Amino acid sequence: MRGKFITLEGIDGAGKSTHLDWLAQFLARRGIKVKVTREPGGTALGEKLRELMLHGNVRLHPETEALLMFAARREHLEKVIVPALENGAWVLCDRFTDATYAYQSGGSGVAWDKIAVLEQWVQHELQPDLTVLFDVSPEVGRQRGKRGKTADRFEREEKAYFRRVRQAYLRRAKEYPDRVHVIDANSSVSTVQKRLEDIFTSYCSITS
Ligand SMILES: Nc1ncnc2c1ncn2[C@@H]1O[C@H](COP(=O)(O)OP(=O)(O)OP(=O)(O)O)[C@@H](O)[C@H]1O
Ligand SMILES: [Mg+2]
Repeated sequence: MRGKFITLEGIDGAGKSTHLDWLAQFLARRGIKVKVTREPGGTALGEKLRELMLHGNVRLHPETEALLMFAARREHLEKVIVPALENGAWVLCDRFTDATYAYQSGGSGVAWDKIAVLEQWVQHELQPDLTVLFDVSPEVGRQRGKRGKTADRFEREEKAYFRRVRQAYLRRAKEYPDRVHVIDANSSVSTVQKRLEDIFTSYCSITS
């Protein structure tokens, strides 16, 4: 049976990586094969692009960023995501196309419709089966993001930028209410985890 494609989204510091680890273990305990991956990243090209976009000192035009993201996504789908799904694994992806709408359109001003063209071109009808949007205020995200690491290029952006990114994420959630589950992630790790557990307990029971 084909696996499920699950994506985790939210602004920097929202808790995606924290909860992705927990979710991978939760699913594995239920006997589900899990493939964890991320964007930008997931393939040799994607990881190079991640390095360039997050830590490089060349400031790219936002449309260039969007084009590169989708070029890398094409590879990621072909080489990692689709084969894993066909192999029956559940793919847990830390950020996917909703993030391109949020950051490159919401944050950096690329036309929403241009992202939609690229999405259609690269993905055709393929969408995640389920997306969790960890919704936090830019203030909380910033505080959490600061802990123990140097800020990447996106983390150095202004608060207003993250406000726009968050709004764009919420717009995607509104457009895809069946797919995108919004969790208020301003609360404690355990409260967020409980919400996640409820969502996936019910999702696993309807899909198996
Ligand atoms: N609900 C929470 N309450 C308090 N702290 C949290 C919560 N969720 C995550 N954290 C902490 O906040 C920090 C950032 O979390 P995490 O790395 O999971 O965010 P992220 O969404 O993956 O961020 P990035 O986009 O930068 O990768 C970590 O130190 C984590 O332990
Ligand atoms: Mg992370």
